[in-house]
Amino acid sequence: MDKFVIRGGNPLLGTIRVSGAKNSALPCMSAAILTEDEVVLENIPQVRDIETERKLLTSMGAEVELGYGRAQHRTTICCRTLSDPVAKYEIVKTMRASSLVLGPLVARCGVARVAQPGGCAIGDRPIDLHLKGLELMGATIVQEHGYLEARAQRLKGAHIVFDKVTVTGTEDLLMAAVLAEGETLMENCALEPEVTDLAALLTAMGACIQGAGTSTIHVQGVSKLHGAKRRIHPDRIEAGTFLIAGAITGGDLVVANCQPAHLSAVISKLEACGARIEALGPDSLRVRGDGPLHENDVSTEEYPGFPTDMQAQYMALATQAEGTSTVKENIFENRFMHVGEMVRMGANIRVDGRTATVRGKTPLSAAAVMCSDLRASAPLILAALVADGESILDRVYHVDRGYERIEEKLRGVGAQIRRMGNVFGNGKKA
Ligand code: EPZ
Repeated sequence: MDKFVIRGGNPLLGTIRVSGAKNSALPCMSAAILTEDEVVLENIPQVRDIETERKLLTSMGAEVELGYGRAQHRTTICCRTLSDPVAKYEIVKTMRASSLVLGPLVARCGVARVAQPGGCAIGDRPIDLHLKGLELMGATIVQEHGYLEARAQRLKGAHIVFDKVTVTGTEDLLMAAVLAEGETLMENCALEPEVTDLAALLTAMGACIQGAGTSTIHVQGVSKLHGAKRRIHPDRIEAGTFLIAGAITGGDLVVANCQPAHLSAVISKLEACGARIEALGPDSLRVRGDGPLHENDVSTEEYPGFPTDMQAQYMALATQAEGTSTVKENIFENRFMHVGEMVRMGANIRVDGRTATVRGKTPLSAAAVMCSDLRASAPLILAALVADGESILDRVYHVDRGYERIEEKLRGVGAQIRRMGNVFGNGKKA
C-alpha cells in the first residue's frame, strides 16, 4: 500500500494547476448511458474514482476509452449496447457515487439493478430520496439480496420536492427526467456547480432543462438523446485545498485553472482568517500567507455555502491560526475522522457532536498517521506540510480517489513529499 513521506517546513511557492472536477466527471460519465452515441468528456481527472466508474460502465457493456495524454484528459464513452444494466456490489462498495447510474439505467433500459450502498465512513448516507423520486416517476422498486431493482416501461414526468438538498439525488433524477414522458418539476434541488455541469452536458445531448443551478428545475422529457462533447469544469475542492496549502505554509502560490466564482465561500473565509487572496485573470488565484492567521468560525452548508468537502482542510488551517475557532459540520453526521490523527500531531481539537473546537496556534510535530477517507486525508497532508519533522501518511489510496497526483503537484511548488510504493496508474516507483 502506498504511503506519503512528507517533511514539513517549506513555504509553497510557484504555480499549481487544478485538475477537472471528479464530482462533475462522475455524473457526466453516467449520463453517457442515456444515449447510443458517443459522449466525449475533456478535463477528466486521473483519479481512482474515475477508473472505478470506467469499470462500472464497461461491466454493463459500454465501451469506455480513457485517454490520459499529458495535456488531454479525455474520455470517450459509447453505450450502444448495455447488455447488463447492473451495478455490482464489488464496485458500488468502493464508490458510493455508483448509485448515479440508477436513474439513467431505468430511463434508458427500463430496468436497473444497483447494489445497495450501505453505510460509509462519513455516515449512513441513504439514497431514499433517489428512490422516492423514481417511484413518483412511475418506477417500481424492489429491494432484495442487497440489491435495488427499479423497473419502468417508460418513466413519466412528475412533481418532485426533495425533503433534503441532495447533490447526487438531484443529478440522478435529472438524468431520469430527461428521457421521461412529459414534464418534471423538481424543487429544493442542489445548486452545486456539478449539477450545472451535468445539466449543460445533458442539454448538449438534446435534453430540455431549465433552472439548473437554482432550486427549481423544469425538465421537458424527450424520447431520445444524442452524443455530445463537454469539457468538465475545474475541481473546486482541489483548488480550495491548494489555497489552504498556500496560506498554511506561509507561501505565495498561484492556483491556476480554477473557477474563482465556485470558491466564493472558501475565499471569504480564508480572507477572514488573514490570508491574502487575489484574482489573477479569470481562472487563477494567488494566495499569500505572509501575515499571521487568526481564528474564525465555520459552518458547512450546501452550495453556495462553505463546502463540507473543505471542512477538514479548514480545520488544519485553524490549528495554525491564533485563537479559538469552532467548526460545525451540518451535512454529514460523522465527518471528523481526521481529528484523532491531527491530535496525534499536536493539534488541540475537541469534538462535541457536530461541532469541533480548535485552539490555535499549536506547533505540529510529524507523526505516522492513517488516512481514513478521501476528504479526511487532505488535512493530514496540510498538517504534515507545516509539522516539525517527517510524517508518514498511510493508506493514501484514499487520496488517490479524488486528488490527481497530488504529491507531484505539491513537489512542483516546493513541498518535500514523496510516495513510497507504486505510483497509482503507471506502475513506476516514486
Ligand atoms: C455529494 O455526495 C458528493 N459526492 C460528496 O463528495 C459531497 O460531500 C456531498 O455531495 C455534499 O456536498 C459526489 O458528488 C459524488 P448528498 P452526495 O446526497 O450526493 C442526505 C467526495 O468524496 N441524504 O448531497 O452523496 C445525506 O445523508 C464526496 O467527493 C439523504 O438523507 O451527498 C446527507 O446528510 C464525499 N437521503 C445530505 O443528504 C438521500 O437520498 C447531503 O447528501 C440522499 C442524501
